[in-house]
Amino acid sequence: MPEKKIILSGMRPTGKLHLGHWAGALENWVALQNDGGYSNFHLVADYHALTTNLDSSHICDYTIDMLLDWLAAGIDPEHSPIFRQSQIKEHTELHLVFSMLITTARLERNPTLKEQVRDLNLGPISYGYLGYPVLQAADILLYKGEVVPVGEDQLSHIEITREIARDFNRQYGVVFPEPAAKLTKFSRLPGLDGKKMSKSLDNAILLSESPEDVRTKMKKAVTDPQKIRKGDPGRPDICLVFTYHQKFNQSEEQEIRKGCESGQLGCVDCKMRAAEKINQFLEPFRERRKHYEQRPDEVRKILDEGESKARAAAQKTMKEVHEAMKIG
Ligand code: TRP
Repeated sequence: MPEKKIILSGMRPTGKLHLGHWAGALENWVALQNDGGYSNFHLVADYHALTTNLDSSHICDYTIDMLLDWLAAGIDPEHSPIFRQSQIKEHTELHLVFSMLITTARLERNPTLKEQVRDLNLGPISYGYLGYPVLQAADILLYKGEVVPVGEDQLSHIEITREIARDFNRQYGVVFPEPAAKLTKFSRLPGLDGKKMSKSLDNAILLSESPEDVRTKMKKAVTDPQKIRKGDPGRPDICLVFTYHQKFNQSEEQEIRKGCESGQLGCVDCKMRAAEKINQFLEPFRERRKHYEQRPDEVRKILDEGESKARAAAQKTMKEVHEAMKIG
């Protein structure tokens, strides 16, 4: 049997996830898991959460909320161990080794960092935040991840991971693969105001949203400003609701396009049709979420087992690292 390719991906624990997380990455995690040709590992990047917020009091609750969404979305913990970065100490060890292999100038050039510093209005940043991609490289390479399904904002981090893998292999001998990012088609799903979907912008539809809330939120969605009333022709290609149809209602996409362009389909009807499709899509998520919500012990056990499996893999790699470096 051919060896399975290793998938490694993770998210910072930011609480409940939304459709943007699904469309940007989670969808690929589930698809690759179900493909059969891969072996998945998924981590909660709880140390990474500290880079932009030192307050750690919500990390545990946010972790559970996020795990419930992963499970609701179809991550099968039997096949795909899920674990917290903070509980596998090899992440911090490998991070230290890697931190010697990259210059501060290279990290300062990282476009994702620059964007965040600007968007979040951060002042001078910490040493740990500058090293964010170094810890991420450790996350990926500790499991010898080959494929990293992420959103497009992570591409610059994966590039740094590849450079670090190459530099380590050149310096000490080949231990690591050079991982490749894998993007989804809708890697940046728009939120209800047309900007990137994000909880902090209050423009998100959560994976755990109730059917009524999906409808209420959808009513507020911004559409083509030139289409003021039913009968006015609209421009689907600039309308975020049409993007939702493209994503969640492919079978009616052409009909919706025609209806919008001709003016026959009004925005309210169009939004409600999108809301229905999103609700249908989320229905199985809701059921699985309910199952796990009612069984916190089961979730705890999934995490314990995931962490045992991850720890075994991490220890094995760290041993190879020490051997390659001829220390230990
Ligand atoms: N940086 C990722 C994010 O913000 C989270 C993350 C941490 C990650 N470690 C990772 C993603 C390793 C992929 C692989 O979403």
